[in-house]
Amino acid sequence: MLSSGAVDPNLDLFQEIDRLRKDMNAIILAHFYQEPDIQDIADFIGDSLALSQKAAETEADVIVFAGVHFMAETAKILNPAKQVLLPDLEAGCSLADGCPPDEFAAFLENYPDHKVVSYINCSADTKAMSDVICTSSNAVKIVASFPEDQKLVFAPDRYLGDWVSRSLDRELVLWPGSCEVHEMFSEKKLVELKIGHPDAVVAAHPECPEAVLQHADHIGSTSGMLAFAGKTSAREIIVVTEPGIIHQMQKENPDKVFIPAPGNDETCNCNECPYMRLNTLEKLYLCMRDRTPEITVETALAEAALAPINRMLELSR
Ligand code: 13P
Ligand code: SF4
Repeated sequence: MLSSGAVDPNLDLFQEIDRLRKDMNAIILAHFYQEPDIQDIADFIGDSLALSQKAAETEADVIVFAGVHFMAETAKILNPAKQVLLPDLEAGCSLADGCPPDEFAAFLENYPDHKVVSYINCSADTKAMSDVICTSSNAVKIVASFPEDQKLVFAPDRYLGDWVSRSLDRELVLWPGSCEVHEMFSEKKLVELKIGHPDAVVAAHPECPEAVLQHADHIGSTSGMLAFAGKTSAREIIVVTEPGIIHQMQKENPDKVFIPAPGNDETCNCNECPYMRLNTLEKLYLCMRDRTPEITVETALAEAALAPINRMLELSR
């Protein structure tokens, strides 16, 4: 006999998830770093900006977010009346966790005449202390929307902030956070890979350190990297981000070869995001069946965090 909570191994999870999606009038949103099965069953796959745009416009009653906590939390802030489910509540993010609200508030006290631009990979509390939110696909545009003489704090990703700063030749005060996955890519290993694949081009995510980004032919968000993979005439593409994205790259470009850049430690799969990978097809099914874990955000906090998110959505139209 199966214990309560266990999933019958004979169940067709694809069929069950599809049935629940219709019964609940749910939309399944998935990030490119999710495992292939989850990407395949999702109603919509995208980068952080596209996912928040989709969350803002959906008419579904329930949003099932196959991603990490800050993404589902953003969807909830945009949809206070809808139920938002996350397959695993432990699916966090080192950038969000590395910017504790009390420490960030104390940091901001040093910069009273600065506006605050925060990367969407942060908690609702950090968003509520920000003037505008950005993602990797619009960070340059959002920062450039401020007058040249406006001083800015950029949080919580110092590598993304550094890339924006170099791109615009504009000084930014950076919160010293980083993505534990992207900072593990090694310049040495990337150069070795390029030597072994002299015709390959390199697509990299701006959460990587500068030493890695200087070897990239394209730098952009996951959606941007996917678009580049389609456009480039090169047959081989070295992918310097979480390798979950390669599922879509390969689907859209069956004739091209995608090479995941390795992390700097051969003993682990450290180019895989340990938080994104907590979600499984089984947990996706269970969260829909049991309608839990559910994301909740306290009303006053949600209202304070909504304004800078809406500002981003307006600037991204
Ligand atoms: P994008 O998909 O917006 O590029 O973000 C990457 C990421 O690390 C999400 O956590
Ligand atoms: Fe956070 Fe990095 Fe994982 Fe994205 S890849 S969720 S930034 S830890």
